Amino acid sequence: MKKIKIAIVGYGNVGKGVVKILENNKTQIEHRVGSPIELMAICDLFPIAEKAIYCKRYQDIIKREDIDIVVELIGGYEPARTIILESLKSGKNIVTANKAVIAKHWDEIFSTARRYKKLVYFEASVGGAIPVIQGLHEGLAANKVEKIMGILNGTTNYILSAMSKEGISFKEGLAKAKKFGFAEADPTLDVEGIDTANKLAILSSLAWSGWIKMDSIDTKGISSVTKDDVNFAKKFGYVIKLIGEASMGKNGLALSVGPCLISSTHAFANVNMEYNAVLIHGDASGDVMFYGKGSGQLPAASAVVSDIIFLARQIVNETAGKLPYVVADPSKKIKIMPKEKSSGTFYLRFSAKDIPGVLSKVSGILGRYNVSIASVYQEEPLSGLRKKVPTPIIILTHPTNHGNLDKALRMIDKLPIIKAKTVKFRIEN
Ligand code: HSE
Repeated sequence: MKKIKIAIVGYGNVGKGVVKILENNKTQIEHRVGSPIELMAICDLFPIAEKAIYCKRYQDIIKREDIDIVVELIGGYEPARTIILESLKSGKNIVTANKAVIAKHWDEIFSTARRYKKLVYFEASVGGAIPVIQGLHEGLAANKVEKIMGILNGTTNYILSAMSKEGISFKEGLAKAKKFGFAEADPTLDVEGIDTANKLAILSSLAWSGWIKMDSIDTKGISSVTKDDVNFAKKFGYVIKLIGEASMGKNGLALSVGPCLISSTHAFANVNMEYNAVLIHGDASGDVMFYGKGSGQLPAASAVVSDIIFLARQIVNETAGKLPYVVADPSKKIKIMPKEKSSGTFYLRFSAKDIPGVLSKVSGILGRYNVSIASVYQEEPLSGLRKKVPTPIIILTHPTNHGNLDKALRMIDKLPIIKAKTVKFRIEN
């Protein structure tokens, strides 16, 4: 019986989880594959306990001829890209959890896989344990996808949930996420929305069968969300979540990542802490929602091992790579709708001097740019502070053109009565 031989490159938290699952569920996995899986090598910069199979240089794994699957778990762009490409060229299949490299090098990776008749599986790159790649790519293959909307980052969802539940600031929420092991030592990619944008790019590239590049996604993180915003949103019946959204319309595909007000009656409002959720709207299926743990050792390793199993089954049956998993077509161009042409409803927080005429100046400019106001709220400051600190004025808009709104805000922010850049978040209706 052919044994399926694998090598892990990058032995961090997820890599250790993969080894745990392979050991704990060995019999079941062997049954599902129809063959045993043998871990031949683990490559990491630092020595590991499993000395007999340790190697320091990934080049030594690429050179080996007995490896069927390379499991790339180092993350980032390089050397991950080189490892994936060189492994494919030397006859190996790939399982990766690396959203950054897949989003950035989509065409190159899948074209190379096709040329060398090998497979690249990447379930763990989006949504941790949630089988959303398979769900979208296979389970919903019959559909024209109209919209994808997701809470795709566990770290930021943890921070926003803590801000909302405990009334703490963004900084305190981040410190808590670090303390409990959810945030990376450098959480910039999570907090600034890049991680969510990578995942949205991957889902969109699959859904619309063409490479969606990161620079097509209007991306904003959560570091500008204040305790005040969380409280004001609550007053209006919303919670703030970091949302990645892609929707196909007559004028192209609109893509955005940013803090968003979600109605407290929406299913996403109850997706808290490290959990992720993805809602996909297909023309035939209607709304389909996925929910589960988006990060953490075993949830991510669950997706990696599932990929290993499905790849291994195909290797055993000698079908691996006969059909590509993702068909990359570099000539296919998806029409992207520029942010200025998109429309939506918005939450605006102005920091204004509390003096007569402020509201009329702000609303006058909004009116001039055809931005219609749905609600206005101003909290009376303590009388002693009235002239000293800027007063937050909250305005919720009716559906409006994004480009017009930005023009109006640029003009408003130049007024001497406005003391800080106006905060703008989308409202999901
Ligand atoms: N940093 C990611 C998150 C890990 O917080 O969701 C999973 O991709």
